[in-house]
Amino acid sequence: MDIELRKNIDWVGYVDWTVRDFHSFNTKRGATYNAYLVRDEKTALIDTVKTPFAERLLKNVSALTDLEKVDYVICNHAEPDHAGSLPEIMEALPKAVLVCDKKCEAALGRYFDTSKWKFQIVADGESLSLGKRTLQFILTPMLHWPESMFTYVPEEKLLFSMDGFGQHVASSARFDDEVDMAQVMEEAKAYYANIIMPFGKQVAATLEKAASLDIDMIATSHGVIWRSHLDTIINAYKDWLVCKPTAKVLVIFDSMWDSTGQMARAIIEGASMPGVEVKLIHVRKSSLTAIATEVLDAATVAFGSSTLHRGMMPMMGAVLTYFKGLRPSGKAGFAFGSYGWGKGAPEAIHVSLEEMGWEVMREPIKAQYRPSPEVLDTCREAGAMLAEKAKTLAAR
Ligand code: FEO
Repeated sequence: MDIELRKNIDWVGYVDWTVRDFHSFNTKRGATYNAYLVRDEKTALIDTVKTPFAERLLKNVSALTDLEKVDYVICNHAEPDHAGSLPEIMEALPKAVLVCDKKCEAALGRYFDTSKWKFQIVADGESLSLGKRTLQFILTPMLHWPESMFTYVPEEKLLFSMDGFGQHVASSARFDDEVDMAQVMEEAKAYYANIIMPFGKQVAATLEKAASLDIDMIATSHGVIWRSHLDTIINAYKDWLVCKPTAKVLVIFDSMWDSTGQMARAIIEGASMPGVEVKLIHVRKSSLTAIATEVLDAATVAFGSSTLHRGMMPMMGAVLTYFKGLRPSGKAGFAFGSYGWGKGAPEAIHVSLEEMGWEVMREPIKAQYRPSPEVLDTCREAGAMLAEKAKTLAAR
């Protein structure tokens, strides 16, 4: 496995082949926690790994240098997948000073007993010389925690971008030109949709700030390192940051006895027209991760559920709760669903769409027990409306 990014700059992280649940993110291709060692007159470890893998990280570092020679540990992000092993790492590196921003110091102090750690607090734009190379720190608040920062090595045109541009994918390859790019981009999109989407505006400001840097390699904290396809991932981020819609219609539903299912299929039928991609998603046969990824670049979405216990079905509730947090913007849609003897799911979904700030295109479509032919016609008409709206939004 090639681990060298530049001469004396190496990957020393951990490949987590079997992880499938990353705080509810469905990591179907596994994950990596990337850490890097920069050896110069001074030696710096950039980020660490999840708690259980501290020993593996130390083994990787030991293969390159004596642990006593590590001068700095740079903490770009306090989230435990990168900082969780810091207590073991700081204990094992007797000389090391922990370099981070002020908010990161405070966060680490909440997670761990940091009383014995030596800290060096850095501000935005500050630099630390390692000898021939310099580490320059760029604060990136809300990408995706308040204390997050990038570390840039100008002499190498190398950016350590922490979670930015990451992908949850385990592989023996470390670089973007050694893997299937379609798979990596699919995972980068899932990563953006599920982790970074709520902070699009702040991230856009950060990337504008970073745009002045001369970069020809981006070493992210998850997945492969970008050295050949930087334009691909940066241009994708430009679209994702604004949830740029494509002419794509989603019908997302759950159903008890297939009444809402019949309505969902009628909506899809109506939406199917040239120039429009349509997808039918049953929430219990998909995952929150996959659904959020699909919504990122969809223009219009219909959400449907049977009524259960005077409300929507539980997984539809989970989807809408998740979306209220992720805040996908610029979308339009409506609610539909069936009921037996009282109000329920369609009305509750309608309220959720309004709360999400989406353009709600019509009143909910409802069917009592079974959709009548007239209701199914209404579903087809509403589907066509979704498709036309999707084309309009995508053309803007
Ligand atoms: Fe990969 Fe926000 O931690």
